[in-house]
Amino acid sequence: MKIIAGPASQLLASKVAQQLNTPPTICDYKRFPDGELYTRIRDDSIDDVTIIQSTPTDGDYIALLQLIDACEEAPTINVVIPYMGYARQDKVFNQGEPVSARAIARTINADRVFTVNIHEKSILEHFNADSFDLDASHLIGNHIRSMNLTDPLIISPDAGALEIAKSASADIGIPYEQLEKTRHSGESVTIAEKEIDVSGRDLILLDDMIATGGTMAESIRMLKEQGAADIYVACIHPVLARNAVVRLYNAGVKEIISTDTLEKPQSSISVAPLIADTLKSL
Ligand code: R5P
Repeated sequence: MKIIAGPASQLLASKVAQQLNTPPTICDYKRFPDGELYTRIRDDSIDDVTIIQSTPTDGDYIALLQLIDACEEAPTINVVIPYMGYARQDKVFNQGEPVSARAIARTINADRVFTVNIHEKSILEHFNADSFDLDASHLIGNHIRSMNLTDPLIISPDAGALEIAKSASADIGIPYEQLEKTRHSGESVTIAEKEIDVSGRDLILLDDMIATGGTMAESIRMLKEQGAADIYVACIHPVLARNAVVRLYNAGVKEIISTDTLEKPQSSISVAPLIADTLKSL
């Protein structure tokens, strides 16, 4: 099987290929003078393919479509989208809006699609392919286990992240708590006051993604006021848009921990074993 590394997942795809004992296929990505993307797979042998490409930007989404099209003659096309952009627009919130996640899913022409902790599982139904969501919460749990923490507590900052928090917590026997978030805009959220026994304890705030950092920053402030010791934030998808990193350190975070569904300096936990094991089991 050929492993094709999209431009947003070069390192992750290379690690997956390494675990499958196959060299990743070399591809070229560049821009035409008018800004359009040029993509070329430098291997025209006919074989099953797995394309690994996150889609944090519109350009990354176009690159994924180009790669799928370039593999048209492959007997089987697997597409792995570790982080799928637009997944948070999974329904019509206000009249006249598209279900952007559905619009994108419908364009993916493949035999199988794999996502990692997709924001909303119902999106999987919109792919015109067998679709599966891989769960990286256990990898985060293992990482937390390896940390030297004092009387730790895992905290989900909202109901949406509860399943991930519960799963990591169950793996390593660390208790969990949940906060209540209200979103006012893309950047502004409030976290309801909640008395939790955090005094002197190390906390791991765990969410599926950190985008602007607003959710985590507000949670950190409240928990610091209640006497928490070190506060770590962990997520599957480190979107970390704009000044999110600075916002988090300004709020007093000890460390930002994430997987490499998006390749950032904070991506210390690799989902490569999860993807490689899944591909081996096909
Ligand atoms: C939302 O439901 C997600 O699970 C995250 O809580 C959210 O995307 C985080 O966004 P931000 O970092 O901008 O607060």
